[in-house]
Amino acid sequence: MSTFPKNCWYMAGWSEALEEGMLSRRIADRPTVFYRKQDGSVAALYDRCPHRFAPLSKGERDGDCLVCPYHGLTFDPDGQCVRNPFSDKIPAAAHIASWACEERDGIIWMWGGDPTEADASKIPDFDVVRDQPGRKVLRGYTHVKAPYEYCTDNLLDLSHIEFVHRGTFAGEGVIFAGEHSVIDEGETLHSNWWMPNVPAPSACRPPYEQGQPTDHWLEMRWNAPASMKLMLGATLPGKPREEGYEVGGQAHIVTPETATTCHYFTANARHHEVDNVEMDAFLTQLFDHAFNVEDKPIIEASFANLEAEDFWAGKPLSLGVDQGGTRARRKIEAMMKVEASDG
Ligand code: FES
Ligand SMILES: [Fe+2]
Repeated sequence: MSTFPKNCWYMAGWSEALEEGMLSRRIADRPTVFYRKQDGSVAALYDRCPHRFAPLSKGERDGDCLVCPYHGLTFDPDGQCVRNPFSDKIPAAAHIASWACEERDGIIWMWGGDPTEADASKIPDFDVVRDQPGRKVLRGYTHVKAPYEYCTDNLLDLSHIEFVHRGTFAGEGVIFAGEHSVIDEGETLHSNWWMPNVPAPSACRPPYEQGQPTDHWLEMRWNAPASMKLMLGATLPGKPREEGYEVGGQAHIVTPETATTCHYFTANARHHEVDNVEMDAFLTQLFDHAFNVEDKPIIEASFANLEAEDFWAGKPLSLGVDQGGTRARRKIEAMMKVEASDG
């Protein structure tokens, strides 16, 4: 069964998720309500009143506080009850958990552990999908009925492109012409493909033409729990990468919802034809097909087919190209071991 590390930054949603008020989302098996305080910063509280367990997200705002919709207990952004409509006394147990939040690159992040230990310098950088002039970013979300590590396996092993993405990004065999490397930098992993002298990939046409030989790269960066950034590009054979063309970059950020389900956030940035709404529609449809029609069903079907107590008990075969996902799993396990021994 999947479990979760605490001491890492979880993506709660895109910034626009708070445009219309509160957001209720289960993160790492805890119902959580997110809202924007009057100073614009984001608060996260356990979405469950300690009295009769009503979701606070169904209540009302009172300044920076939330008022329970059932009997009116009011909680401040630290989770402390500050008003009891039935007495001047606040019961000692009238307190709920709160989490530290940060917002950057258009992403709301939540520190899963003790709020006093939240270190914003550990938030992975997703500047490539931040809105800025001359860049168009298309964002998406899909819900996956599988543990988040199954999505990590999928994203850190892009060899599946050749089989799963026949209707979208299929590389016409280019992955098989490539070299795969996994680079372990402690808290960060990289799963990189380098494909020399292959036909220009579709994402790099233009500037290259169909069938034109290029050196092509696909590079995925991972941070716990499952926050990934993909960079891809191509250059003329033997030429430096800086002389080639790199597509804007993608975010693939997966947040565990429960032990067996997860939230999968995607973003794709481009720097060409940024005002072309037909291009927006084409890419939106392409990514929707790739993630919802191609990736999601095979990930969910693989998990549903496990027939074992957990992933390792299923005795998964190793093919080498899957070592990125395996290392990510081992890193999460090591994090949880340290957290367990720290109490
Ligand atoms: S359930 Fe919240 S005050 Fe009663
Ligand atoms: Fe995929």
